[in-house]
Amino acid sequence: MDPLLDFTDHSIIVTGAASGFGALLAEMLDQRGASLVLGDLNQEGLERTAAKLKSSAITLVGDVADEEYAQSLVKAALENYGKLDIAVNNAGIAPPQLKSLAELDIDVLEQQLNVNTRGVALGMKYQLGAMAAKQSGAILNVSSMAGVSGAPLIGSYAAAKHAVIGLTKTAAVEFGKANLRINAICPFFAATPMVDNPVLNPTDNLEDVNQRLAAGSPMKRIGTVEEMVNVMLMIISPHNTFMSGQAINVDGAMSAW
Ligand SMILES: NC(=O)c1ccc[n+]([C@@H]2O[C@H](COP(=O)([O-])OP(=O)(O)OC[C@H]3O[C@@H](n4cnc5c(N)ncnc54)[C@H](O)[C@@H]3O)[C@@H](O)[C@H]2O)c1
Repeated sequence: MDPLLDFTDHSIIVTGAASGFGALLAEMLDQRGASLVLGDLNQEGLERTAAKLKSSAITLVGDVADEEYAQSLVKAALENYGKLDIAVNNAGIAPPQLKSLAELDIDVLEQQLNVNTRGVALGMKYQLGAMAAKQSGAILNVSSMAGVSGAPLIGSYAAAKHAVIGLTKTAAVEFGKANLRINAICPFFAATPMVDNPVLNPTDNLEDVNQRLAAGSPMKRIGTVEEMVNVMLMIISPHNTFMSGQAINVDGAMSAW
């Protein structure tokens, strides 16, 4: 095993572990020796992820926007593994529609803020306390390219993902002296079920969506799930000890235009 990506005996929470980035991250952390607490709303998907692991993970079904649930994930790590080393706040929802801000549907904005921002804030609320108590730990929040630049027709999603970066930077500053590292990742599109849906992929043709979404990108393609998860592993690596308060773009140079 690559010593830079050795997570042996690290107690790690991953939310949104039933699908996409979270499911693959859980598998890769399991292969690297981690002790996992996996959360998601989707029980079936969570069971599917857990069945692929060689170690037995703790799985908790629930909504990251529910404060009791956010607390229960941390409690599970502390009770079962005696500590919490790393948390990846990855659960999130896609924009349910494409509309300009002149047609803003306020319910959609509230729904986006409720899951994509509140879910991260509540997760960190309890993770930070548990990590500060032992004066070490790392948190990775999953934002988006839409968290660092304007995102036409998905303004509510952009607002919620920008807020994730505000929370990330603030936590990094507040908890630097407790030796905690808090970063965000900002992926460009990758072909997870979130992108392969009727809103972003109306023709139900992933090749088509790949072409359309990637048309303006320097590398002329969207990312793969593996490419995003590899960077997630690098950010939370126990050897990545001085990088904090950063929002890391993984975007095939899209943000370099
Ligand atoms: N796929 C992309 O192109 C892309 C790009 C940028 C950012 N992201 C972000 O990456 C993260 C993971 O997305 P993905 O692409 O793997 O999508 P996905 O839909 O495959 O996975 C998201 C998971 O989050 C879970 N989830 C949703 N709401 C939840 C809630 N309230 N409580 C608990 N679990 C909940 C879902 O059940 C699902 O299993 C999200 O935060 C998303 O916004 C994705």
